[in-house]
Amino acid sequence: MRSLLRVSQNVLRASERAFSGMANPDRKVAILGAAGGIGQPLSLLMKMNPNVSDLALYDIQGTPGVAADISHINSKAITKGYAGAEQLGEALKGSDVIIIPAGVPRKPGMTRDDLFKTNAGIVRDLIAAIAEHAPGAILNIISNPVNSTVPIAAEILKQKGVYDPKRLFGVTTLDVVRARTFFAEKKGLPVADVDVPVVGGHAGVTILPLFSQATPFKDLSQDELVSLTKRTQDGGTEVVQAKAGKGSATLSMAYAGALFADACLRGLNGDPNVEEYSFVESNVVPELSFFSSKVKLGPNGAEKVMGLGELTEFEQAGLKDAIPELKASIQKGIDFANA
Ligand code: NAD
Ligand code: LMR
Repeated sequence: MRSLLRVSQNVLRASERAFSGMANPDRKVAILGAAGGIGQPLSLLMKMNPNVSDLALYDIQGTPGVAADISHINSKAITKGYAGAEQLGEALKGSDVIIIPAGVPRKPGMTRDDLFKTNAGIVRDLIAAIAEHAPGAILNIISNPVNSTVPIAAEILKQKGVYDPKRLFGVTTLDVVRARTFFAEKKGLPVADVDVPVVGGHAGVTILPLFSQATPFKDLSQDELVSLTKRTQDGGTEVVQAKAGKGSATLSMAYAGALFADACLRGLNGDPNVEEYSFVESNVVPELSFFSSKVKLGPNGAEKVMGLGELTEFEQAGLKDAIPELKASIQKGIDFANA
């Protein structure tokens, strides 16, 4: 589901399967933080996804109402709300994909790393519950700072003896979504035809759009390249400032989160052509144990982590700037989880 367009393609595909007598396999998706700014529209989009048969909406509060509301929609996913830690195990049991947008968002003037204090503990505790109740699930981590929360999740899963690097994903899809939009606007292209690789991580200079590999390829002046790169890196801050204290990106994030979760589901269901960018355990950059690059998704999660292709001098310099910050953020997550 690259867009609602992709949703309708899926509906079409699902009905084609129904006509040919092949049903989609049953898939349970759990959303943790489902009553929040991202959680609610993401829950709506996942309820509309024909690859979902069960939708578990978990939050510390508010999910009975969100679930009752969403459950009246005419799609097959049976939707249930779970509120409070005592219902978390039930929400998780049997999940194929678990999406985690739980945690506090930024206010103007904050960096994503400023959220670490609150969100690191939230992610640690949710992952510990997942290790107990749904150890084989594919995990999509949205909670910031992604550059640290994903390594935290990996460490907790290791401690519990259930870590599978192929099943742990940091969601960086919104960076790709933004780069596509900004590039398409700048070059007067239909956005549906545009693709822009975005690699690295999910904070400031660690977000590295590779406009030299955009399709369709368009020459950019140095000014255009610098401003498009900066706008992609600062996309989250642009929304935080526009919302003026009322949180960060929620609707575009729900769209991006639904896109990525759908890709995971299609991979699980055996679609052989699913590739998305994601922050995963990686050896693409030798100094960094996690990195976002293109990943081939399949029945086991990340089947293959792709390299970066040929980088321009400008992109190589961007990568050089990103490495120290990424390294420190990854280590901060690892240290927190092992403290
Ligand atoms: P929000 O405050 O609107 O919603 C967060 C929800 O999490 C709330 O409903 C809250 O009750 C819930 N929550 C808190 N602790 C929880 C716990 N222990 N278990 C389950 N639920 C819990 O925030 P939001 O705007 O939805 O943003 C959520 C997170 O997503 C933030 O950390 C934000 O920075 C991040 N985010 C990431 C990206 C990305 O690209 N990866 C994009 C946008 C936002
Ligand atoms: C985003 O990129 O929109 C998110 O990471 C939220 C934020 O704090 O910018």
